[in-house]
Amino acid sequence: MASVIIAGVGAYAPERVLTNQDLAKMVDTSDEWIFSRSGIRERHIAADDEACSDLAIKSAMAALKDANMSAAEVDLLIVATATPDYTLPATACVVQHKLGVPPHATCFDIAAACSGFVYALEIAYGQLLTGRYKCALIIGAEKLSTIVDWSDRTTCVLFGDGAGSAVLKKVEQSGIGIIGSDLGADGELTEYLYTPAGGSRCPASAKTVADKGHFLKMKGKEIFKNAVRVMETVAREMVEQHNLRLDQIDLVIPHQANVRIVEALASNLGLPMDRFFMNIDRFGNTSSASIPIALDEARRSGRIKPGDLTLLVAFGAGFTYGSTLIRW
Ligand code: UT7
Repeated sequence: MASVIIAGVGAYAPERVLTNQDLAKMVDTSDEWIFSRSGIRERHIAADDEACSDLAIKSAMAALKDANMSAAEVDLLIVATATPDYTLPATACVVQHKLGVPPHATCFDIAAACSGFVYALEIAYGQLLTGRYKCALIIGAEKLSTIVDWSDRTTCVLFGDGAGSAVLKKVEQSGIGIIGSDLGADGELTEYLYTPAGGSRCPASAKTVADKGHFLKMKGKEIFKNAVRVMETVAREMVEQHNLRLDQIDLVIPHQANVRIVEALASNLGLPMDRFFMNIDRFGNTSSASIPIALDEARRSGRIKPGDLTLLVAFGAGFTYGSTLIRW
């Protein structure tokens, strides 16, 4: 029996750090409000000349190094992002070229917002199992600072830039690597979190720029409630499907959107907070990059050991959600 394993993980965060104190000089907010409502202390912000693909490539290089593999071996490249370099073509093609992934590779982007990394994992997992591909590089990369309205205190305090990558390959061994994956979406909630302008519904114009239509619009409270609900559901379903109990999960790596969302999830699941890996204090919400950045930190800090069970749980704009169960 074959399995698909995560052979390497890597992450990259831009050099510039924006603290809550810095934000308090830009909008009417405070470190106390931001930290108590979200758990965020600081976030990284990409330089003007750093695009999504530049962040993606740095994290990909780290993941390939971790896997002891080269870009030449990659034949499936997926970039999950809400902030691509261009609306056309895919950021994956920009990454392919600059990274040296061969021309025969399949390269595309997926738009599943903060659930993008678990969506990419599921796609790569299925494709590798078929035998059609040998090595997948999946990347969650975001330059959210370009779609945040820096004069809107209800959103600008929450987001950050960054990227995280994983290298996946098939091995002839059973019961390790990705042992379960489940995705979902509820399109009825599309307008809970979206950028109204710049797409085909409302193309860019002087008016859309003046109206700030290219920036994120968010219904924070509604997202909060739905996030807790869907993450609890997918976590419970995943363990039930695999005849496990929640307390057998060694580490949960949730999408890092708000520490209070994770505290509510932990309480509903009856698990202690130390079973959840958190780094939102230093990165804020980096959307599709949040889970791979956290996964990279969790592995490097020794929070994941061989044989451990890790559960990734995500939710995001769409409203998308999903979970991945991994045995290391
Ligand atoms: O990847 C998915 C992305 N999005 C999310 O996950 C968002 C999920 N939602 C949340 O994280 C929370 O709802 C927020 C952090 C966005 C907001 O927290 P909240 O506890 O729901 O606060 P609130 O929206 O009820 O706002 C409370 C007060 C309001 O003032 P009034 O009406 O009570 O006078 C806001 O105007 O806090 C005010 N406020 C702020 N004050 C200082 C909102 N933002 C700020 C701010 N600084 N940055």
